[in-house]
Amino acid sequence: MSKKVKFLMTFRARLMLLLTSFLLLTFVVVFLLDRWANKQSDEAIEAQNRQIRAAVNSGYGDIARANTIAIQSLTSERFLYEEVSRSQLPPTVGNILITDREGHVKDSTDPDMVGQFIALPDKETPQDRPEDPVLHKYEDDPDIPRTYFHPITTTKGLHWIIIITSQQPIVKEIEAASQMLSDKKRELSNYRLAATTGLLLLALAVVVTVGWRFSRPIDELAQAARRVADGEYDFRINIRRPDEVGQLASTFNDMIGGLKVKHELEEKLNQAERAAVIGRLTQAVAHEVRNPLNVINLSIDHVSSKYAPEDEKRRGQFTSILSSIKDEIARLKYLVNDLLNYGRPSQMAFKPLDVRELVEETVTLVRAQADAQGISLDVEYTEQNTEVMGDRERLKSCLTNIVINALQAMPQGGSLATNLYRIDGWVEIKITDTGVGISDEAIQKIFEPYFSTRVSGFGLGLAVTRSIIEDHRGSIVVNSKLGHGTTFIVKLPVASDLQKGKISEGLN
Ligand SMILES: Nc1ncnc2c1ncn2[C@@H]1O[C@H](COP(=O)(O)OP(=O)(O)OP(=O)(O)O)[C@@H](O)[C@H]1O
Ligand SMILES: [Mg+2]
Repeated sequence: MSKKVKFLMTFRARLMLLLTSFLLLTFVVVFLLDRWANKQSDEAIEAQNRQIRAAVNSGYGDIARANTIAIQSLTSERFLYEEVSRSQLPPTVGNILITDREGHVKDSTDPDMVGQFIALPDKETPQDRPEDPVLHKYEDDPDIPRTYFHPITTTKGLHWIIIITSQQPIVKEIEAASQMLSDKKRELSNYRLAATTGLLLLALAVVVTVGWRFSRPIDELAQAARRVADGEYDFRINIRRPDEVGQLASTFNDMIGGLKVKHELEEKLNQAERAAVIGRLTQAVAHEVRNPLNVINLSIDHVSSKYAPEDEKRRGQFTSILSSIKDEIARLKYLVNDLLNYGRPSQMAFKPLDVRELVEETVTLVRAQADAQGISLDVEYTEQNTEVMGDRERLKSCLTNIVINALQAMPQGGSLATNLYRIDGWVEIKITDTGVGISDEAIQKIFEPYFSTRVSGFGLGLAVTRSIIEDHRGSIVVNSKLGHGTTFIVKLPVASDLQKGKISEGLN
């Protein structure tokens, strides 16, 4: 019987454990990934800020340096364009102009501007404007110029230092920093996507494996159930698992065993029912046949004594024909008696008798038929005592049944050997034929009542024989090889002096 499954071994518990661990793993992976991505992102933003700060600072530094160059130029005799080549200007500075109070350009890094006029701010304070007063570019210009106006008073009066800057290098720096940040973000999002896909694939693999492991035995069970439904009981499911499925398989196997036993019992019951019906029917027929047989027998006796022909030769033939009719009737009577007696408690007349005589009589009885079929009869007797206690007529009918079966198994002729010998306290009769033999399947059933392979057989001969021999405390066994022949061995206990004494006492 199947045992109770420990909770931790159950499929339910294992599935829950597996799913919980998987969820925990997912949680830990997502958490760590998130923390790592945040750190990376913070670092990237910090780097971007640093880059932007550096760019802005360098812009302010450039204006300060341009201012210093302009102030130095105020005290110098040389023009700005002579002292500072364009390439020496700070990166964000496009042009430096110095004007007088009215806006006439006195000096410039661009020689063409010297002598030109620039519109100045209204108030004499430092200020800046989003335009280039030289090239007249405005805020929507890609160059994004910005112009710083610084009023400065020297010994030569009020002057304006005008520094025209281009924001483009700063913008480029900031754009580069933003690009770096978005690159980093894309890279992180790719990592996240890869990790999530990996986790999903792992989950898929786990689901497929668990599903397959769980559904495969169920599939086997379903197939097994179909086989049982088709009436197959000689197989077992080979699922050894410590969980509910294993328990189910073991219960299923127990169930197949139980069903097999039940099925066999049902078969036996059906067979017994059939046998009982046939038995009753045949016994009724036998009963009806017995009386006419007696009448026929008596009539033949009457005919043979009253109507025998005068002529010697014809009388001989007449008597021979009538005696074969009588032989056949005698056989019919045996059969009828077998049928009537089968299944009834037998009333035997036990007396000491020599089996040797029984064998001799049986062989004599079948000799004519054996000759007609071309069968040689060979008999061997032991010199030892072969006396048993038994019912003469019944034991003789046993031997006759076996010998007649043997003759029927040799329609094309053959040989029939009968050996009578002693082994310890047993008398044994071995009857061997060279007939058709018995198949392995049939040999299991030949002692069952109503089993017959012959068209005109009742299948009672051996059933009755075994029952009679067992009533004599003997046994009967058979050995056969299909196509080679069959041997029956009947064993009867030797009559002891004690038994003989009891019988004679009973008789007196
Ligand atoms: N010597 C034998 N060789 C081959 N088959 C045999 C032999 N003896 C018995 N059998 C088989 O055993 C079956 C049963 O024998 P059994 O004597 O009980 O019945 P039966 O001969 O068929 O009919 P009946 O009741 O008329 O004797 C036979 O039908 C036959 O198939
Ligand atoms: Mg028979």
